[in-house]
Amino acid sequence: MSENKVILNYDGKSFEYPVVESTIGDRGIDISKLRDETGLITLDLGYKNTGATLSEITYLDGDKGELYYRGYPIEQIAEKSNFTEVMYLLLYGELPTQNQFQGFEANIKKYNYVAEEMKKIIDAFPRSAHPMGVLSSLTSALTAFNPKAVDVRSKEDLDHAAEMLIAKFAHLCAWTYRKTQGFSLNHADNNLNYVENFYKMTFRMPNQDFDMNPVVVNALDKLLILHADHEQNCSTSTVRMVGSAHTGLFASISAGVSALWGPLHGGANQAVIEMLEMIEADGGDVAKYVEKAKNKEDNFRLMGFGHRVYKNFDPRAKIIKKAADDILNSLGIHDKALDIAMQLEKVALEDEYFVERKLYPNVDFYSGIIYRALGIPTEMFTVMFALGRLPGWISQWKEMRLMGDPIGRPRQVYKGSEKRDYVDMNLR
Ligand code: CMC
Repeated sequence: MSENKVILNYDGKSFEYPVVESTIGDRGIDISKLRDETGLITLDLGYKNTGATLSEITYLDGDKGELYYRGYPIEQIAEKSNFTEVMYLLLYGELPTQNQFQGFEANIKKYNYVAEEMKKIIDAFPRSAHPMGVLSSLTSALTAFNPKAVDVRSKEDLDHAAEMLIAKFAHLCAWTYRKTQGFSLNHADNNLNYVENFYKMTFRMPNQDFDMNPVVVNALDKLLILHADHEQNCSTSTVRMVGSAHTGLFASISAGVSALWGPLHGGANQAVIEMLEMIEADGGDVAKYVEKAKNKEDNFRLMGFGHRVYKNFDPRAKIIKKAADDILNSLGIHDKALDIAMQLEKVALEDEYFVERKLYPNVDFYSGIIYRALGIPTEMFTVMFALGRLPGWISQWKEMRLMGDPIGRPRQVYKGSEKRDYVDMNLR
C-alpha cells in the first residue's frame, strides 16, 4: 500500500483504490468501483470496518477514549456547556453567539405544544406498554399532525423541522412516563429552559407546587449532553439509512428510537440496573457474575461493559461515574447498586478475560444509577437516552440529506440454495 492508494491483486490483475483522507482518525479505502472492476464485493458483518459515510459532526478515538462534538472535547463540553447549546452546536457546526442562542431557544419554544389528539393515541396504549415502544409510535404519529415534507433545499424548512421535533419530542418523552404512572399529561412552560421544562412536564403533580431542584436539573443536563451524539452507532445509522430513502424526518427518528431500544445499544442502561439488582438480590457475589459473563455456555453478559469502538475507558463513563458520586452525595442517597457497580468494575478490570478483550465500562454502566437517584423509573432510562440522542439523530439526518447520500442498499454474499424447480405440495 502506498501513501494514498491501495493495490488489490486478484485473478492475475492489479486494481488501485484511492485512500480517502480524514481530518483525524481512520482513513478509508474508496471501493466504490470495486464491484464493477473486479466482480467482488466486501463482506463486513456488523460493519466493523465499514465507513458508511463522510461526516463532520462527531469524532471518536476508541483506542485513546476520546470523543469530540464538532471538534470540542466532551470533557470541556460537559463541564462548560448546556444541552441547548450542544443541540445548536451539533445542528449548525459552531457554538452559538448570545443572539444565536436566544433565537434558537425562542424558536424551539414556538413549537412547545403537542396536539390534543395525540393524547387519544397515548390513551389507546395499555399502561404496561414499554415507554420506548410508545415513544417510537408517538414520534411516527407526529407525522400525521405535521404532514408537510421537509424541503431539504430550504434552510428555513430544515431549521423549523428540527426545532419543532426538539420541542415536541420532550413532550412525548414526558408523556410516556406519565402514562406508565397513570398521571395526567402536562403541557410546556415557556418560562423555563429546555431541560427545566422537560423536568417539570415529567414530574409536576397536579396537587402540589413544583420544586425545581437545581441538582436534578444539572444532572439531567449533563446526562443529555453526554448522550447527544456518537457518530455512526446503530440507531444513528438506522436514522440515516431510513432517511436515505427520502423518508421524512419524524419517521426516520422513530426508527432510530426503535433501534436504540435494544439491550446491546441504548437499552443497556435499563439492563445494567436490572443486572445490579439481580446481583444484589443474589447476595452481592460479583465474582460469580464475572465468571458467568466469561462462560461461553452462559448467555449472560456484563451489561454496561464493552463497546464496538472504545477499546479503552468510554470517556462518557468516566464523567458519569464522577457525576453519579456527586449527585448521590448532594441528594443524600446511598445506593447499594453503586457499591455493586464499583466492585464489579474493579473485579472485571483486573480479570484477564476483560483485559485481553479490552472491555471497559461504557456510558450505560453508571447512567442508570443517576436516573434512579433522580426518581426516574428503570423502564424510562432508554427514553432519557433517546431525548439526549435526538439532536445527534437530527444533525446526522440533515447532513445525510444535504450531502445527497444515495439510498442505503448493501449487498450480500448469497449462501442459500441454488436454482431449483417448484415441487407441488402433494409430491413433497
Ligand atoms: N460481557 C462479556 N463478554 C463480552 C462483553 C460483555 N459485556 N462484551 C463483549 N464481550 C466479549 C465477546 O463475547 C467477545 O468474546 P470472544 O472474542 O471470546 O468471542 C469479545 O468480547 C468481543 O465482543 P463482540 O460482541 O464481538 O463485540 P462487539 O463490538 O460486536 O459488541 C457490544 C459490542 C457493546 C454490543 C458488547 O460489548 C456488549 O454486548 N456489551 C454489553 C451491552 C452494552 O453494554 N451495550 C451498551 C453499549 S454503549 C452505549 C450504546 O451504544 O448505546
